[in-house]
This record gives sequence, C-alpha cells and structure tokens, in this order.
Amino acid sequence: METRNKLYEGKAKILFETDDPNVILQRFKDDATAFNGKKRGTIANKGYVNNQVSAHLYRYLSSYFIPTHFLDVVSDTEMTVVKLEMIPIEVVVRNIAAGSLLKRSDHKEGDVLPVPLLEFFLKDDDKGDPQISREGILEQELCTAEDLEILSRLALKTNAVLKSFWQRRNIKLVDFKLEFGKNHEGKIVLGDEISPDTCRFWDATTDEKMDKDRFRQDLGQVEETYEAIRRRVFMEDHLETE
Ligand code: TMP
Ligand code: ASP
Repeated sequence: METRNKLYEGKAKILFETDDPNVILQRFKDDATAFNGKKRGTIANKGYVNNQVSAHLYRYLSSYFIPTHFLDVVSDTEMTVVKLEMIPIEVVVRNIAAGSLLKRSDHKEGDVLPVPLLEFFLKDDDKGDPQISREGILEQELCTAEDLEILSRLALKTNAVLKSFWQRRNIKLVDFKLEFGKNHEGKIVLGDEISPDTCRFWDATTDEKMDKDRFRQDLGQVEETYEAIRRRVFMEDHLETE
C-alpha cells in the first residue's frame, strides 16, 4: 500500500494517509510513555506485539458483530484501518480494582468489582485526561446522547467478549481503555488499539502483572512480558475455531 503524508504522530503510534481517502495506515512504535508523558522509554518489539495483538482482537471482536476500524495487517508493525472521525473520549471498563480507581475509591488493588464499571475520561493531554461524567460529555457536545448510548453498550459488550477470551488463556482482564470514532457513513466504530499498552492483564494463577504496568512501575521483564502476551493470544483454544 502506497503511503503518503503523516496525518498524526502520537506517543505510541503514527498514522499515515494512503492512496484511498477512507483508509489509514497505523504504525505501532516501540516508544513508551506513562504518567502523561512524564516517564519515557522504549520497549523492544512493542510495536510488533501491539500490532499483532490488536489485529487478532479486532478480528475476534468482529466475529461477535462489534464493528472495528481494522482492515488488514500489512507489515510487522503496521495495519490498515478505516478512517474515523474520533470522539475525544477514553472509555475505560474495569472488572477488578487497579490503577487510578484506587485513588478515587476505597477499593484495594485486586478487589473484584460487583459489576463492570464504565468510566469516561476527556482525551486532552494538556488537562491530563480528566475524568468526565456522561452529563459533562453531553454539555461539552463531545458526542450525542445516542452516540454515548451506543458506545457504552459496545464497550460493555467488548468487555464480555474479551473477558472470556482472556479467561481461556488463563489471564484476568482487569481493565482496559477503548476509543471510538465515526466512519464515513456516521456509524460508531471501535478505533485505536487493544494491547498490553491499553489493558491490564494479570496471570490468573499468580496475579503477576502482564501489561504496561511493568513499565509504569519499573517491575522489570517488560519486553518478555509483552512477548508472553502475544504468545497467549495465539495459544491454541479448543473452544474456538480460529
Ligand atoms: P487507569 O487506571 O490509569 O485509569 O487506566 C485504566 C486503563 O486504561 C488501564 O488498562 C490502562 C489504560 N490506559 C490507557 O490505555 N491510556 C492511558 O493514557 C491511561 C492513563 C490508561
Ligand atoms: N499513555 C499515557 C501517557 O503517556 C499514560 C499511560 O499509559 O500510563 O501518558
């Protein structure tokens, strides 16, 4: 696929135009940041792992009729995706208490939440991605009430599908972040990536952290853990016919 101008460069990905105005090339970088860019580093082969893991999870979600922007894997670190008009909200789903929830609640790390918790954060680096309520989203006209209803349902359905996918691979899906956008027909579609950068994964037997928290918290074995997650994604699963 012929690539043209760089459309956008973020902390972990670069987006390029292609010869098709509706198609974007998404390149995953090895660069890693945390705490709103205050901590920086590189994780060898992260781009490869996140490309492979995201592609597989998007394909899997499509089989459950969850619309995603994913089109094709075109190289080790690149995929083609549908061009979306992004909704500037980070949608977080939590099953187990961890991360920023510990600062905003009385939960201890590892508490199983009675129901999945859906939270929204404004995508705004300058403001440090603050949490925002449903009413705040509507008041700031970030999307319509109908859009918010649709993306909330899609986020909870994604959680149900991915939770059991990971359970069969002996991993607890602790929490994750999704981003949505609208395609050229105005339909809401899952965008961005789903990877160890954007999810918390704990080994179901040992509760060992198997995600970007190893980088955030300097736990070591970062590259090895990303590769272990890639291998578990592709682990044979007798319940599936993939
Ligand atoms: P949090 O506990 O820090 O709010 O993170 C919740 C989930 O969202 C966790 O799985 C990591 C993911 N996440 C991102 O993908 N990008 C971010 O910038 C942050 C802060 C979290
Ligand atoms: N990606 C975010 C940043 O660099 C935060 C994170 O993932 O912890 O700031």
